[in-house]
Amino acid sequence: MTLDIQKIRNDFPILDREVRPGVPLVYLDSTATAQKPARVLSAMEDYYRLHNANIHRGVHTLAEEATGLYEQARSSIAKFIHAPSSSQIIYTRNTTESINLVAYSWARKNLQSGDLVILTEMEHHSNLVPWHILAAEKGIVLEFIPVTGDYLLDLDEYQKLLTRSPKLVSFTHMSNVLGTINPAKDIIQMAHAAGAITLLDGAQSVPHFHVDVQALDVDFMAFSAHKMVGPTGIGALYGKKELLELMPPFLGGGDMIKEVKLRSFRPNDLPYKFEAGTPAIAEAIGFGAAAEYLTSIDMDQIAQHEHEITNYALQRLEEIPGLKIFGPAARHKGGVAAFTLNGIHPHDVAQILDRFGIAVRAGHHCAQPLHEKFAIQATSRASFYLYSTRAEVDILIEGIYRVKEYFD
Ligand code: ALA
Repeated sequence: MTLDIQKIRNDFPILDREVRPGVPLVYLDSTATAQKPARVLSAMEDYYRLHNANIHRGVHTLAEEATGLYEQARSSIAKFIHAPSSSQIIYTRNTTESINLVAYSWARKNLQSGDLVILTEMEHHSNLVPWHILAAEKGIVLEFIPVTGDYLLDLDEYQKLLTRSPKLVSFTHMSNVLGTINPAKDIIQMAHAAGAITLLDGAQSVPHFHVDVQALDVDFMAFSAHKMVGPTGIGALYGKKELLELMPPFLGGGDMIKEVKLRSFRPNDLPYKFEAGTPAIAEAIGFGAAAEYLTSIDMDQIAQHEHEITNYALQRLEEIPGLKIFGPAARHKGGVAAFTLNGIHPHDVAQILDRFGIAVRAGHHCAQPLHEKFAIQATSRASFYLYSTRAEVDILIEGIYRVKEYFD
């Protein structure tokens, strides 16, 4: 069975719009943020129209309904990543905040000067800067698994780093620039054998293929709603219960406590211990609706469709003289194609493509060290999702030829 892409596209109201009169939108920037289906939009609107109340605090009907929807969403998200319990899903603002939560709470408590944290050269800034801050503050040592000439992680070098008894290995499941899908299960197993805890940045993987935290045996995983057809402003941290239970709270305030005295407090149970203040209630409900929507379509089918579109896009892009793709062979790659065009600045490429309604991103994509490694400042990046079509790839290719003509 293959996906009925036109039916899926009908679920996304924005895909019908024209960027300018007569110029339909060709949205190839889902790696930055995905578009939202009507089901997510109406779940959020229904909350505000029918159930709006604060959660966990009231006994009135609306408060109970709002709390029910907020917690039901947490269960849908737990199910989506196969977490053993919804109490292991901590709502955060996004992947970045989830990684910071681990850095501020788990790492501040458990890491000391000289302790080794292993990252990779293909990390997004959100999995670099929290560790830079901790290195400056506590003297932890950072090492990086190198990226090979084939745009894969060098697992031999990783094995060597593991002999230095790291405390934490934190890495991206899928690069937001190269599209490289890293062998997370092996990396996690190797880390555990060396006695390290693992943190997986699932921002680009969870939306695109089935990720099972129990099968991976990962200790922590960070991901965002907005890249998986949910709203912005909400993400999650998954963690193993025994680790989350021993971690001190991250932010202090309402809801994260059991009891407060003038000079002390007792923290709440999981997951509330890490959820201070009134949360993003509508967004959490939208997050749950996004997980349910993707489940209803089938993650394996989505992955298969993206793989086909990416294969096709790579083939067509490779035909273009002067175009260089940064990323591994298609079998190691998710739906991302970052490229440069000889002599043309990536921002100019994106700007001219926009004239044809084509939305791609240009820049360092919050992965400056990776670009530096390849001695470039920026790339243009097209990315694909469940609603992307071969016809859109054709429009992109045609657009790139027009960009070349313009500059030639
Ligand atoms: N991390 C997002 C991207 O790659 C913002 O575009």
